[in-house]
Amino acid sequence: MVSRAGMARLLLWGGAAVVAAALAIFYGPPSYVWLLSEAILDRRYTLPRSLVIADSTPAGIARGARLAQLAGCTGCHGRALTGNLLRDPISIRASNLSALTRKYSDEDFDRAIRRGLRPDASSLWVMPSQAYLYMRDVDIAAILGFLRSLTPTGKATPAPEMDMAAREKIARAKLIAAADLSQTQMPAVDLGPHYSGGRYLAMFACGGCHGTELNGSQDGRAPGLKVIRRYTRQKFFNLMRRGWSANGRRLRTMAPLARDRFHILMDWEIDPLYAYLMARAKVPEVDQISRAGR
Ligand code: HEC
Ligand code: HEC
Repeated sequence: MVSRAGMARLLLWGGAAVVAAALAIFYGPPSYVWLLSEAILDRRYTLPRSLVIADSTPAGIARGARLAQLAGCTGCHGRALTGNLLRDPISIRASNLSALTRKYSDEDFDRAIRRGLRPDASSLWVMPSQAYLYMRDVDIAAILGFLRSLTPTGKATPAPEMDMAAREKIARAKLIAAADLSQTQMPAVDLGPHYSGGRYLAMFACGGCHGTELNGSQDGRAPGLKVIRRYTRQKFFNLMRRGWSANGRRLRTMAPLARDRFHILMDWEIDPLYAYLMARAKVPEVDQISRAGR
């Protein structure tokens, strides 16, 4: 038999336990997400050296401006590179690069662009450094020349404050730090010197979305580029300059990209790009090769 006072105590403690369990359910996962994302955001990396120096000749600046358009820098950082708020995959501000020209050395810029690293050795987020890792020093030098030719405008963007939705993605590895991607992603298959020009362009102009190996994006929105098989040379020109699919449909992402970026590609750039993508589409997959070897 339980006394009346004992019963009251039991109810009290039972109630407290229920409340505690409810609190744990509501706040437990978020604090776990918070702690894990905090640990990931606090990571520091080894800063590699860079010896690239901005090419501030008129030819260098002009080439840098063009490369910045093809590589998509102006798409995310804004036409004047004064910064833009992005909403996808997380809400984050693409930094004001023009203001940073007062603060960053050429080495700081290069490490941010190709390695995804800030001068304090933390990683950038969403910045597609993995697609720029293989850019040649001369092209980085031209982009730096272009950056340094801008009149610094506005304030430098502070390091991002990650909201809970962003932390959720970081904690669940749905979003990987730029520095980690730059260290771990594989380049597109190398088909020799004949195709090197097209491969180079594909890696920095298309790799940010279609994956550095060009096998498609992690979220599945940008397809693997073996779809090139559906395109004749003429249709591929229409894709690059108008954003049309192989059957003449206006593509949601590729059409604005054609308008803002790829329409500036010359015939002598689109042809090697097409040649490389076609040659790459005919290379058997690794598992097909190993099966053939058995
Ligand atoms: C998909 C959008 C996207 C593209 C394309 C892109 N960036 Fe970024 N970039 C970002 C975002 C977002 C940040 C801020 C990341 C952060 O604060 O963690 C950033 C940061 C940077 C930084 C570091 C700035 C700082 O605050 O320390 C530099 C430098 C930079 N980008 C240069 C470039 C250049 C040059 C290109 C083209 C070759 C380029 N970016 C293309 C999104 C992009
Ligand atoms: C900003 C991200 C982004 C970049 C950069 C990009 N793509 Fe795409 N691409 C997409 C998405 C997303 C799709 C899916 C269709 C759509 O929404 O336009 C796509 C679709 C395609 C397709 C398939 C179209 C079809 O038949 O369905 C091809 C081929 C293609 N892209 C080629 C390229 C090439 C070549 C480049 C570089 C010169 C490039 N893309 C750069 C995002 C991108």
